[in-house]
Amino acid sequence: MDWGMKNRMARLINPETGHAVFLALDHGYFQGPIKKLEEPQKTLKPLLPYADAIMVTRGILRTSVDAAKVGPVILRVSGGMTLAGPSLSKEGIITSVKEAVRLNVSAIATSIHVGTEDEHDTLTNLSRLVDEAEEFGLPVLAVTSVGRELEKREARYLALCCRVAAELGARIVKTYYCEDFEKVVTGCPVPLVIAGGPRMESERDVLEVTYNAVSRGAVGVDMGRNIFQAESPVGMIKAIRAIVHEGASVKAAAEVLAGESKRAVARV
Ligand code: R5P
Repeated sequence: MDWGMKNRMARLINPETGHAVFLALDHGYFQGPIKKLEEPQKTLKPLLPYADAIMVTRGILRTSVDAAKVGPVILRVSGGMTLAGPSLSKEGIITSVKEAVRLNVSAIATSIHVGTEDEHDTLTNLSRLVDEAEEFGLPVLAVTSVGRELEKREARYLALCCRVAAELGARIVKTYYCEDFEKVVTGCPVPLVIAGGPRMESERDVLEVTYNAVSRGAVGVDMGRNIFQAESPVGMIKAIRAIVHEGASVKAAAEVLAGESKRAVARV
């Protein structure tokens, strides 16, 4: 690995803990202004100190992120479809590697849609991006998208997606936690982070999923809605950090969350 790539990977995955907490705020690229992300700068401000990296599009980076204050950025470079359109899998490359370099980001991210009619295009998008980005020592993060089919979040399918992403050159893979998650981890030779998906039934579920994913081999999370739509977003990201970076139990993390919620109430 050359110096630039090593440096960017070390900015993303903390070399001391070997773990990472990424905050995903890229939902608007196909979902528009979803709840609590109507004004991204307001959502981001209190969370920024606790995110090892943020995942956004160039539009949000330019309009809503202070270039003087932000840390590592993972730039979403695939898109071109919306919730209103005919297909969520028809993603093209919407931002060039040159633009990513100009924006001084630490990684770029693209989705793959394995098993859909757009499998070939999204996989070749990934490999083309890897070819271009590696020239600049820029890591590519592949997102194993499930579109609307949340039931696809099972080990056999995700193990296939993650392995294919790694074989095509992704340096980090973002996937979902699932039963038999070890099978997904074992088959994937690059670091894995998990998305949270739509809001879970309880905030304790978020902590349990994080704990289970990390104890079964994920390097951390690249989570959005279950953090910024939580009752206490700061409490949630701090609790997740405790699990991911400090090996805290679910109970200890729940105490971090409860402590922050109490402080937030006291401040009102
Ligand atoms: C997925 O395709 C996008 O990167 C999402 O915006 C991201 O995965 C969302 O994270 P979460 O599912 O935790 O809200």
